[in-house]
This record gives sequence, C-alpha cells and structure tokens, in this order.
Amino acid sequence: MTNLIFFDAEQQVFHLKNQQISYLLAVEDFGLVSHLYFGKQVDSYHGQRKYPRVDRGFSGNLAGVEDRRYSQDTLLREYSMAGEGDYRIPAAKIMQADGSYALNFKFTGFEMFPGKPKLVGLPSAYVEDDIEAETLVITSIDEISKLELATFYTIYRDRPVIARSTQVRNLSTQNSKIHKLASMQVDFPDEAFSVISLPGAHNQERQVQKEAIGYGIKKFSSRRGSTSHQMNNFIALEKGTADEFQGEVFGFNLVYSGNHAFEIEKDQIGQIRLVAGINEEDFSWELLSGETFQSPEVLMVYSDQGLNKMSQTYHDLLTNRVARGNYRNKERDILINNWEATYFDFTEEKLRPLVDTAAEVGIEMFVLDDGWFGERDSDTNSLGDWFADKRKFPNGLNHFADYVHQKGLKFGLWMEPEMISIDSNLYREHPDFLMSYPERIPAPSRSQHLLDLGRKEVRENILTQLSAIFDEGYVDYVKWDMNRSLSEVFSRQLTSDNQGETLHRYILGLYELLETLITKYPAILWEGCSGGGGRFDSGILHYMPQSWTSDDTDAVERLKIQYGTSLVYPPSSFTSHVSAIPNHQTGRNISLNTRGNTAMSSVFGYELDLTTFTAEEKQAVAKQVALYKDIRKVVQFGKFTRLKNPFISNECAWQFISQEQTEVLVFAFKILTQGQEPFSLLKLTDLDPTKHYKTENGTIFGGDELMNLGFYLPQQTEDFSSWMYRFTRID
Ligand code: GLA
Repeated sequence: MTNLIFFDAEQQVFHLKNQQISYLLAVEDFGLVSHLYFGKQVDSYHGQRKYPRVDRGFSGNLAGVEDRRYSQDTLLREYSMAGEGDYRIPAAKIMQADGSYALNFKFTGFEMFPGKPKLVGLPSAYVEDDIEAETLVITSIDEISKLELATFYTIYRDRPVIARSTQVRNLSTQNSKIHKLASMQVDFPDEAFSVISLPGAHNQERQVQKEAIGYGIKKFSSRRGSTSHQMNNFIALEKGTADEFQGEVFGFNLVYSGNHAFEIEKDQIGQIRLVAGINEEDFSWELLSGETFQSPEVLMVYSDQGLNKMSQTYHDLLTNRVARGNYRNKERDILINNWEATYFDFTEEKLRPLVDTAAEVGIEMFVLDDGWFGERDSDTNSLGDWFADKRKFPNGLNHFADYVHQKGLKFGLWMEPEMISIDSNLYREHPDFLMSYPERIPAPSRSQHLLDLGRKEVRENILTQLSAIFDEGYVDYVKWDMNRSLSEVFSRQLTSDNQGETLHRYILGLYELLETLITKYPAILWEGCSGGGGRFDSGILHYMPQSWTSDDTDAVERLKIQYGTSLVYPPSSFTSHVSAIPNHQTGRNISLNTRGNTAMSSVFGYELDLTTFTAEEKQAVAKQVALYKDIRKVVQFGKFTRLKNPFISNECAWQFISQEQTEVLVFAFKILTQGQEPFSLLKLTDLDPTKHYKTENGTIFGGDELMNLGFYLPQQTEDFSSWMYRFTRID
C-alpha cells in the first residue's frame, strides 16, 4: 500500500495526495507554515511554487527579521492568528493572561500516522480501518505564551477529501482565553471564484445562492445556537465557468450543529482566504493551564467535474463514513406521520382508523407526532413532561403501540427533549433548568424555552425520562425535534467570565446525550428535525441517519429545497412526505403523482389523513407505496445526479443509478405551463455508452443515445407535471 503523506525534508514540504487530489504545505523561513496548493492531483512537487518575496508597503514583517520582502500579511498560510501583523481574517484569537493577543506560532514538528483519530466529544468522519486514510499533525508553539497549536489533516485513500480540525493546548501555568478557534483556513492564490451558499428560512431551507467573490469580507454564518434554517454550514467555491457537470469546485462542510461562520476575504493582491469553524460571536473559552481545546471538523472536497461530483463525494462520505448505526445502509421504512393529519387533535381511538388504512395500503411505520405527552393540546405547554397524556391514551402509550405492531407496522414517536414549557411539571420542579438570564423574564419562541443541556443534571433528567419509555421496547423510531433558536444564552453553572462557553457546552451536551441514547438503543431509527430542516448538518447525521428536510411539504417548493439540500447531503439522509391538498403551507393543489415523485426522490412517507380517501385514491396510494418499495434501494443508496436546476428554469430533474449500475431512475418536473411551451430535452449521464437500456414499456435506448441525444419531455398540459422514467441495463 502506498503512502498518502510525504515529507520532503530538503524543501520542507508536506504533500498529501491520492489518485485524485493533492494538498501541499511548507515550512517557510522562520517557522511559518505556508499553504502551497489544494486541488487536482500532482505527482510530485519540485519547488516551482515557492512564494515570491516582494516588499509591499504597509504589510509589515516578522519580529526580529530584517527582510522587508517577507510578510506574514501576504504569505499564503495554513493558520493565522490575530495580533501578529496578518491583517486578513485570522483563524484564531487567543487572549493571554496579560490581556495581549500577540502570538507568533513557529513550527516545532509533525506526526504522520495511518488512520484517523476520533475527535473527543465531537462528531466527525471516521475510518473503518487504518488503510483507508492517513493523518498529518503539524505542531507550532508560541514560545512566550507556551500555547501549542496543532492542525490536523486526514486524507482518504479513495476519496477526494481532506478532513481538517485544530487543537490548541495550554502548556503554561497561566490560563488563556480563546475568542476564536477556526477549524481550518485555506488561502488560495488569485482565482476567479464564485461562492455558493445555502441560505433560507423556516419553510424555505437551503436555497442555492451563487455570487462572485469581490474585495472585502463576506461572512456566511449562524448566531442562533444551531445550524439554522437561515444559513447552512456549507459553502462551495466554484472556479470560473464551472457548473453542475464541469469545472473545478471546492466544498467545505462543518461537522457541527451550533453557531458557525464561513468567512471569505479577497485581499489587497487578489488572494482569497477562507476561514471556517465555530462562529466567534457569542463564543469564548477559558483554556486552563494544561488543557486542550478541540475544534469541530471541516470536510473539504475537491471536484474537477463540477458540483455534481462534489455532491457525490459528500453523499458517499456522509452516508458511509459520518452516519453510523444499524440503519446506515439499511433501506428505510415508508412511514405515515399524523402531524398534518390531526395536529394536536387526537386520541388512541381516533388514530386507530389511520393505522388501519396505512396498513391496508402497505405503509410500514406509524409515527405519532407532537401532542401525546403531558397534557398537550397545543404548543403552549408540557414540553419536558415525557409521559403519555392519559386523556388521549387511557391505557398507556404501549397499548396503542401494541395495536400498531399488531397491524404489522412499526411504531415511531416524536419528541422534543431539548425544550421546556413554563407550563410543565419539569419547570415547576426545576425552574433553574430553563436557560435564561437571571432576574429577567425569558423570551419565548413558539411559547417554549431551552433546557441548559450543558448541565449534567439536566441531561440526566431527560435521559431518565426517555429511558423509561425506550426501556419498554415498543419504540422503533424517534423523531427528535428542536423548535426554536437559542436566546438568553446563559448558564447557571458558569461564572460571569465564562458565559461565552454556554453555547458550545450546550452542543457538547447534546452530542453526549445523543451518543448515550444511540448506544443504549441501537434498534431505534433516529430522525433529526428542527422545525423541518433547521438543524440539518453532518454533525447531527453522525447520530441520526436521516432528518426531516422542511416543514414545507408543498411538492413544488420542495424541489428547490431538496435540490439545495442535495448539494451536500445524500438523499438517504432527507425525508419527504406526500401531504394533503390544498397544501397546508402554500394552499397549492398538486396531483398525487407529482407529490409522489417529489417525495419518492428521497426517504419517503405520508403525512395526511388517509381515512378520508376514496377507494380509488387509496388504490393509487397503494400503488405508490409498492413502487417506492421497489425503487428505494436505488434512491437511497444509488448515485444521485442533478440534471435540471429549478433555481434557473421552469424545470427540475435528477437521476439515480443503482450501485450495480444496472438500474436508472429519472424524475423530471415541469413547474408552470406556458403558451408556446418550448421543447425540453432531457439528457442522462454516467451510463455505459456501450450498453443498451430498456424502459418499462420495452423501448430500447443506447447508453450513448440517452447521454448525448437525450429525449424530449412531454408537453405539459397542467401546472406541476412530473414524470418518472425507469431504465434497466441490458447485459
Ligand atoms: C416541527 C416539525 C413538524 C412537527 C411539529 C410538531 O415543526 O418540523 O414536523 O413535528 O414540530 O410540533
């Protein structure tokens, strides 16, 4: 097995490379670590890209060094600190005991080893054996403060991926305060980049935004205490004229579920710096003498074939090396969720017919959503009281779950364990569990408040309550919701000086709780949720292999949401439901066929009152259910490619190819009808040009025909039309 990381002692250059990518860094004069290159694989480096020495006005020089042509302010660097005369965005700001921020980290050494270490307390990508990847750790020290910086780089053998994170260790006898510690920094030489980000809102998650990078600083971030609907923790840098299918693209995804920031700066000479990690706003961390702080991880992906290849790399990596557990590679059950069918208005008796109908049409799991616990008839009370509402379930929840099981369905349960209502037993017993500023009335959002999950006793209370339910063994699935942004971020367990740690401690507490639960109850399938897709990230994916994509169930709005989500996250990680018409979010009427085609493009389910359906409508649903069972392996675990972009046209299309390459599924959507509708050609991709492919009605196409000639989509006769095409390879 060849090595993946090389050190050239003469040139002082480190080269991480596999068949697809190279990442080069160097130890420059006077111990600065510089960045040389990240991109398409180069076989070996002969020193041709040594950073030029130029004297630039107002870009100062290293302390104690006379060479005016050598400036920390212009060098392409691996990691830069505030207060050292590099005026671009720093990756870190650390205040020492004397109040100064001056740090001059100098390279002290490195380690290279097979495999990839775990990040303590944090989710991360992993390896299944040490051959899969190699890791480089570069250490630098600031001699005065005795702070030690370690930057970690893992390169995978068969993936165009580098995982980066950072540690800082306090070797002095005095404490320091971290105000910022980014997970990574990458400096690019002058490049014409556009940046792609995923902004949004509740009901409008992960809308694709693309803009050119100009001079100045641009920041994509969240300050809501969670990943947020408003800005996902991902960006891509696209070079020149790159698009979905061609050109160079660099992706950056933070494996974290709290506040994040991606900062980009184009400097005075057109170089581009990207810094990504925990958002420095509302963050600080006291680094006690002898302690280490670990940043979350960033997954960096390189593609030389446009955005689709970048996404496919993420899909494979997140499915197989970030997600874990029994369901990681397992086909997911088709569920029915009662939320949009009943909202809070249900009892066991009222739900039974819905279970019966679901069983009749072949649905495999019933999910009981919000409203089954405490005394909850609306969203104003009972969060924190995780026991069945006796008025709705007089014989207990297990009695209803038994009924569901007897009907041959699995039983799923909604929960929102991070929250507390003022009107709850939990609050009456433990008012101090609620995260708020002392002496002030806490600000509600959806009439609810956060628990301070950074506190052990709070986590233990929740764990005890949830275990009491899960220990009974009737819960097969959990939808773990989180329905507000954090505010009044204050922890009663921390001193006034250390309140800046509250948000990160909350996230660490959440991860610890999730780790305990998934380890204790491995048979449960966990689905993340936050008012739809408000905490949709690869950190959550490490614990829960799927998440509710959006509360917006309108099949046309969902096209954009699913398109944007698929930039990073695999279709096996996002769930979509066929819901009622008129749609509850938009009032739109869309055919069952199109609602099905959108929802069947990921992990599939229903969320409507099937008992009101006519026999004919139920038959149509049964047909959809049977179809999805037949195709779900390809959808959930095949190779996904976006073909037509709904952000720039009236159409959307994507395809899935089975792992064996023998099955091809294409979904195509036309949104609005128009007079004199132009013809629309659909061309497939990634087929074998030498093979033939047969449609369901027996028509045969060459792989090369489907890719190069394509075929015409039908003319549209009504708004929101869609088609599914299935091809089987003829061998
Ligand atoms: C959130 C979820 C919904 C539903 C409600 C219940 O908004 O995203 O799917 O579970 O909570 O209150």
